[in-house]
Amino acid sequence: MRYLTSGESHGPQLTVIIEGVPANLEIKAEDINKEMFKRQGGYGRGRRMQIEKDAIEIVSGVRNGYTLGSPITLVVTNDDFTHWRNIMGIEPISEEERKNMKRTISKPRPGHADLVGGMKYNHRDLRNVLERSSARETAARVAVGAVSKILLAQLDIHIYSRVVEIGGIKDEGLYDAETFKSNIDKNDVRVINEDIAQQMRDKIDAAKKEGDSIGGVVQVMAENMPVGIGSYVHYDRKLDGRIAQGVVSINAFKGVSFGEGFKAAEKPGSEIQDEIMYNETQGYYRASNHLGGFEGGMSNGMPIIVNGVMKPIPTLYKPLNSVDINTKEDFKATIERSDSCAVPAASVVCEHAVAFELAKALLEEFQANHIDQLKAQIAERRQLNIEF
Ligand SMILES: Cc1cc2nc3c(=O)[nH]c(=O)nc-3n(C[C@H](O)[C@H](O)[C@H](O)COP(=O)(O)O)c2cc1C
Repeated sequence: MRYLTSGESHGPQLTVIIEGVPANLEIKAEDINKEMFKRQGGYGRGRRMQIEKDAIEIVSGVRNGYTLGSPITLVVTNDDFTHWRNIMGIEPISEEERKNMKRTISKPRPGHADLVGGMKYNHRDLRNVLERSSARETAARVAVGAVSKILLAQLDIHIYSRVVEIGGIKDEGLYDAETFKSNIDKNDVRVINEDIAQQMRDKIDAAKKEGDSIGGVVQVMAENMPVGIGSYVHYDRKLDGRIAQGVVSINAFKGVSFGEGFKAAEKPGSEIQDEIMYNETQGYYRASNHLGGFEGGMSNGMPIIVNGVMKPIPTLYKPLNSVDINTKEDFKATIERSDSCAVPAASVVCEHAVAFELAKALLEEFQANHIDQLKAQIAERRQLNIEF
C-alpha cells in the first residue's frame, strides 16, 4: 500500500491516490469525512478552519461502495480557491500581471520552510514554498489514514489518539484501550482527564493573548495488532522505525517515542522490559506494556503506543526577527491569521499517520488481493500466538 498526495494550500484541490488497498472493502465517503472533520476541530485553531469544511469525494477505485483493488483517488476541493483564483491560477499570466501580483512573499517566517525552500527551488516569491509546505497537506494524510482505519477495523484492529500535554500542562495518566475509546472527542482539547482540559484551554488563551504559540505531546494507541508485523532483519523493515518516520514527517513534529519512551533512560531494566506470560485463551502476552507493543522492530501483540512531540506553531502574532530576501533588511515578522495551538488537531493527524503505517505493514506481511484473503491470514497469525 502506498500513496501520493498533491495540491497547494490555496490551490483548487488536494488529490490523493492510494494504491494497494485490497478489493471488496466497504468504503463510504462519510466515514472518511468523519475523520476529516476531527482534524479541523480543537481549541486554539484560527479562522481558516471556519472558512473550510473539508470533505473528500471518492473519484476512483470504489464501485457501489466497495473497493475494486485498483488505485483509489480522493479529492478535497478547496472552497476558498474562488478567492485565490488570480493568485493561484494554473494558466500562464503576462509579465504585467506578474509584476502586479498580490500577496507575494519576500519575508520568510522563522521556523517555516520559506527561506530554505526558496533557495532550494529558486523561488523569489516564497508563496511558491509555503503553499505546499503548509500543514494543509495533513488533510490529505488524514484521508489516507481514514481509509487505513477502515481496513484495520475489518481486521478488528482499532486505533485512537489523545492529547497528553499542551504547553507544559500534562495528563500523566496511562490509559487502557477502553478508556481511550470511551473518552474520544469528549472535549475540544482531546484530553482524557477532563480536569486538565480547562487548564489546557487557559494555557492556549494565555499564549494567544501574548501573541505566542504553544506545542505539546500527543499519544496514539492501536489495539489488537497481530504479533510479528515488521521485522528485526533489516533497519527498513522495523515497524517502530517506520512509524517514527511517519510521525516525524508530520508538520511541526519534532520527536517520537514508544510506550514509556524517554523515561526508559531513567529506569532500570527490570522496570522497562515487559515480562512474558501465557494463558490458553490469549496465548502469549506481556505482564506490562512499558515498551509500547514493540520488541525487535516487530509488534508483540500488546497495544501499540506512540508518542509524538509537536513544537509550537511557527507563525506568531508576536513579531520575530527575519530578513527580507529582496532588501536584505531586517524586519519583524507579524501575521494576520494563524492557529495559536494545533496540538488537538495534530493528535488526529498523528493517529492517521500511524494507521497508514500499520495498514501498510500488514499488507506487506500478508497476501492481500481481497479482504477475505487478508482476514483469513490474520486469523492464522492470531492462532499462532496461542499454538506456538
Ligand atoms: C494540524 C497542524 C496545523 C498547523 N497549523 C499551523 C498554522 O496555523 N500556522 C503555522 O505557522 N504553522 C502551522 N503548523 C506547523 C507548520 O506547518 C510547520 O511548522 C512548518 O510546515 C515547518 O515544518 P517543521 O516545523 O516540521 O520544520 C501546523 C501543523 C499541524 C500538524
